[in-house]
Amino acid sequence: MKICVFDSKEVLFQNAAQYFIEVAAMAIADRGCVNVALAGGSTPKGLYQLLATSDYINNIRWEKVNVFFGDERCVPLDHSDSNYKMACEAFLNTVPIPASQIFPMHTDAANMQACAEDYSQLIRDKLPQDDNGGSQFDLVFLGMGEDGHTASLFPETDILNETEKMVAGVYVEKMQTWRLSLTYPTINNAHNVMMLVAGEGKAKVLSEIFSGANENEPYPIQGINPTGNLVWYLDKLAASQLQD
Ligand code: 6PG
Repeated sequence: MKICVFDSKEVLFQNAAQYFIEVAAMAIADRGCVNVALAGGSTPKGLYQLLATSDYINNIRWEKVNVFFGDERCVPLDHSDSNYKMACEAFLNTVPIPASQIFPMHTDAANMQACAEDYSQLIRDKLPQDDNGGSQFDLVFLGMGEDGHTASLFPETDILNETEKMVAGVYVEKMQTWRLSLTYPTINNAHNVMMLVAGEGKAKVLSEIFSGANENEPYPIQGINPTGNLVWYLDKLAASQLQD
């Protein structure tokens, strides 16, 4: 695991963009394409917007990029709360990626199990598998909420105990809404996982995570322990309560 702290969100995004460029180049060289799962939220959004700017857009072979989602809200894809809509507006509508290489999560509150099974099958069909038959993303982007959730792995939800399914529906009581999310097995099978965490509001949770203060009641994000690389990209504000 690697933790990088940057002076500002802007510098965090610049370094995260460079990381994506490097991971993408390696995956394309090794496997002919790069399979990436996007996170929702304002912090990941800042990175996506940067990728669409002239400083970065030409550094990625977008025709070799396959875009999936780490989680989705249970809303239409054109709804303002949709992670798919956010990603399209932030960069997917701008970068030259074929529409056929963008795979939104479809949700239906009346049948989330079928939605989860459909997306699991899509991942099985599209992603290379490891020796154990597990589908492997090249890179999973994740954010972190102030309650220590990541993707839609929220505290006190059943999905935290899911060890078989690759994707699952999850009802989030405190938000009175369904979500669709990759599960721990899928995320932890990725070659690379990048956490993007910024802002003072995340400082307390991060200090508990890295000091071990909450080891008896770990936050959901602490269940992310990929077989591949795990990097935490933090800004100074989010890291402000971390010990050296
Ligand atoms: C979602 C995200 C969620 C997000 C975190 C961080 O659908 O909301 O996937 O896990 O990444 O809540 O969001 P911020 O960066 O906006 O705090």
